[in-house]
Amino acid sequence: PGSLRIAPSLLSADPLSMSDSIASLNGTHDWLHVDVMDGHFVPNLSYGSALVGALRKAYPDEVLDVHLMVEPPESFIESFLDKNPDFLTVHVEATPHLHRVLSRIRERGARPGVVLNPGTPVDAIFPVLSMVDMVLVMSVNPGFGGQSFIPETLSKLVDLCRLRASRKLSFLIEIDGGVGAGNVAEIVRFGADVAVMGSAVFGTDDPGKTVEKIRKIALE
Ligand code: DX5
Ligand code: ZN
Repeated sequence: PGSLRIAPSLLSADPLSMSDSIASLNGTHDWLHVDVMDGHFVPNLSYGSALVGALRKAYPDEVLDVHLMVEPPESFIESFLDKNPDFLTVHVEATPHLHRVLSRIRERGARPGVVLNPGTPVDAIFPVLSMVDMVLVMSVNPGFGGQSFIPETLSKLVDLCRLRASRKLSFLIEIDGGVGAGNVAEIVRFGADVAVMGSAVFGTDDPGKTVEKIRKIALE
């Protein structure tokens, strides 16, 4: 608490003027979250590594948090790693070679993260917890912005906090999907370190003001 990182999702930004959307945040955000969808692992398409490259070039100091919703991730990670993202997160459900993929991300100098869909239990990632810098808990079924928060996913935050303490690890706990002013206090209470927010931020007239407002609520 007191240190929630806010990661606006560019999926809800203006695709024709993403730089305007980023400017509208007024530097109030902590990270930029980039949702990569392949129309196969999830029923929607978004963008590829070229966007990450363009972001990295235009914003060398931004923390780029790249969420890969692609199957299998091993076919795509190299092209993303070439663009120097800060975090590269892959779904446990998307590959039988999770350990290899996470090792490779670390080996190439990015910070590996692992993602759990709402229907996937935390024990699916027990064997790789010591390898990751972040665990992302999906609080909607991935594929689209603007869906409603699934409250049953909150208990995974608590489980992850306990596991982190008992195993003396230090990964960040991130939550993604349906987060906004109405539930940010609750997700902080349950232990989230990072909150992704798409529609709740970019769906408002002044995204920067909205992030400030949400941060204030999170701190209360
Ligand atoms: C869903 C994406 C999310 C999404 C969040 O597949 O991973 O990052 O864009 O959008 P909101 O905050 O609108 O639920
Ligand atoms: Zn995401």
